[in-house]
Amino acid sequence: MNLAVSLGKMKLSNPVILASGTCGYGKELVSYLDLNQVGALTIKSLSITPWKGNPPPRVRETCGGMMNSIGLENKGVHRFLEEDLPFLETLTTRVFVGIWGKTIKEYVAVAQELEKARRIDAIEVNVSCPNVEKGGATFLEDEETLRRLVAEVRSVTGKFLIVKVGPQVRDWGKVVSIFEKEKVEAISVTNSFPALSVDVEKMDFFFHLKFAGLSGPAIKPLALKMVYELLCVTALPVIGMGGIATASDALEFLLLGARAIGLGSYTLVNPSSALQVLKGLEEYLTRKQIDDINSIIGKVR
Ligand SMILES: Cc1cc2nc3c(=O)[nH]c(=O)nc-3n(C[C@H](O)[C@H](O)[C@H](O)COP(=O)(O)O)c2cc1C
Repeated sequence: MNLAVSLGKMKLSNPVILASGTCGYGKELVSYLDLNQVGALTIKSLSITPWKGNPPPRVRETCGGMMNSIGLENKGVHRFLEEDLPFLETLTTRVFVGIWGKTIKEYVAVAQELEKARRIDAIEVNVSCPNVEKGGATFLEDEETLRRLVAEVRSVTGKFLIVKVGPQVRDWGKVVSIFEKEKVEAISVTNSFPALSVDVEKMDFFFHLKFAGLSGPAIKPLALKMVYELLCVTALPVIGMGGIATASDALEFLLLGARAIGLGSYTLVNPSSALQVLKGLEEYLTRKQIDDINSIIGKVR
């Protein structure tokens, strides 16, 4: 049975990807699963200098999901290269690395640092960055800034370039034309949804920054709609994510035309869930007597 898929020129042994921010720097998951069995892992978004993130509370369970206000905490690209790259070099699977910044210059600086590491297969530019910048506007909401951001990152990296979007997209057509023109090679959809929660005992907002990112099963139908709308206007490969917990969830995204899928929050519930999703995909294909996963991608149009 063939589970290998490709995102344009990027070949993956299977379509199951660990999503950014939910598999740490990779090492954290080694006692739960063999990382070489997933199609790719995505290192949490890195900034140019270490970033403390938001004050607690940082997570809250919701009905059918979770909210997080981690605020993109990370050790910074330099420490990552020093402390984590040697481990990632022992792996055979694809390694994607998320990047973020408060300014375009910061994104570019992170991409330049990563360029030195041959082991890194792709850069995933997180352009939705919720919860971090004061005022909450994201790079996605201003098309001219988005174009400059993507163009400048592209100009400093020869690596496979993925842009990760969130629900702030207003006009898929405009965003996609920027990505296509600036030679983005794949699009990850979606980041978490800005949401709000109230602490009734304290009679206050639950999170310090008021808004937090909603993820998990609750957002799956919204994420599927985004993936569908995106695929209506682009031929760029799409990595679909948002609320995937089972092989059946993953199949919904693949049948719509996503070429790979990301597992986020569910890895926090069950750190080895990627392997269960993979096994479930194999079982589905066996039951349907299909020997190549590519023949079901985009079946639902
Ligand atoms: C705790 C947590 C941390 C996250 N950190 C990042 C991050 O650093 N960069 C990023 O691009 N997405 C981040 N995400 C978003 C996920 O990668 C994913 O896009 C989103 O949660 C939707 O997928 P899910 O419903 O399977 O979780 C984070 C999500 C969670 C729950």
